[in-house]
Amino acid sequence: MTSPSPVALVTGGTGGFGRALAVLLRDRGVTAVLADLDGERARATAADLGCPFVALDVTDRAANRAVVEQVEADHGRLDAVFLNAGIAGFDSDQLLDVDGFLRVLDVDLLGVVYGTSAALPALQRAGGGAIVVTASLAGLSPMATDPGYSVAKGGAVAFVRSMAPRLAAEGIRITAVCPGFADTAIIDPIRAAFEEAGFPVLRAEEVAEAMLAAWTSGEPGAAYVVQPGIGAVPYAFKGVPSARTATGETAAVPQALRPPTMR
Ligand SMILES: NC(=O)c1ccc[n+]([C@@H]2O[C@H](COP(=O)([O-])OP(=O)(O)OC[C@H]3O[C@@H](n4cnc5c(N)ncnc54)[C@H](O)[C@@H]3O)[C@@H](O)[C@H]2O)c1
Repeated sequence: MTSPSPVALVTGGTGGFGRALAVLLRDRGVTAVLADLDGERARATAADLGCPFVALDVTDRAANRAVVEQVEADHGRLDAVFLNAGIAGFDSDQLLDVDGFLRVLDVDLLGVVYGTSAALPALQRAGGGAIVVTASLAGLSPMATDPGYSVAKGGAVAFVRSMAPRLAAEGIRITAVCPGFADTAIIDPIRAAFEEAGFPVLRAEEVAEAMLAAWTSGEPGAAYVVQPGIGAVPYAFKGVPSARTATGETAAVPQALRPPTMR
C-alpha cells in the first residue's frame, strides 16, 4: 500500500522523545513509523499512539537497511528519518570503563551512521528529504560523568556537520538537535539530583517541537541547542584558526578537499 502522506521513520521511537514526536507527526498527518528494540512495551506503546511499529536494534547494520526497505514497501516512500535511539552510560565506578564506552558508541554514534547510510537511497528515491539526529548538549560540552556519551554525541554532531554539504547536494538536509537534560527514562538514575537541586529539566514535548522544526526548517549541518527557558537555538561554532602561508596570508584549503558544492 502506498501512502499519500509524508512518511517518517523514528528510531528509539517508543522512548520519551520518540513518543512526544510521534504525537506531533501524527497530528500533522505524517505517517510516523516507530522503530525500537522489540518488546511488548514498545509494541503496545506504538499501538496506543496509532503508529506502525518496526523492531530494530540500531547497532545491527543490516537490520537498518531491512527496516528502511520495509517502510518503503509498506508505505511507498520515506521522507524523513529521526535517528533518535540512544543510551547513556553513567553507571560505572571505573575511571574509564572501556566496555561501557564502546557500548554507548555503538548505539549513539554508529547507530546514527548505519541509519543514515540505510536511509539515503530511499530519501533519494523520494526526491530528497531530511535526517534529524538526536545528539545532546553533551556533544558540545564535556560531560565529565559520562565521557563515552560525550564522545558519541560529539561524534554525531561532527558526523552531521561533515555530511551536510554532500547530502545537501542530493536534496537531503541533515541536522542535529542537542537537548540539555530532559524528563525521560534516560535520566531516571540521576533525576533525584536534579529535583534536589531545583535544576530545570526539559519536557519531552519541547524537544519534540525542536526535532520537528529541524525537519521542516533546519539548516543543513546545524546543531540546535534545546535548553529550558530558551527553546531551540542554532549553536554558533567558533571557527578554527586558519593556516598561514610563509608570507602571512590566510591559506585556502585545496579545492579537492572542499565539499562538492564549494569547489
Ligand atoms: N533525556 C535527556 O536528558 C536527553 C538529553 C539529550 C539527548 N538525549 C538523547 O535523546 C534520545 C532519546 O532519548 P530519550 O530521552 O527519549 O530516552 P528514552 O530512554 O526514553 O528513549 C531512548 C529510546 O532508544 C531506544 N534504544 C536504546 N537502544 C537502542 C538500540 N540499540 N536500538 C534501537 N533503539 C534503542 C530505547 O528502547 C528507548 O525507546 C537519545 O539519543 C538520548 O541520548 C536525551
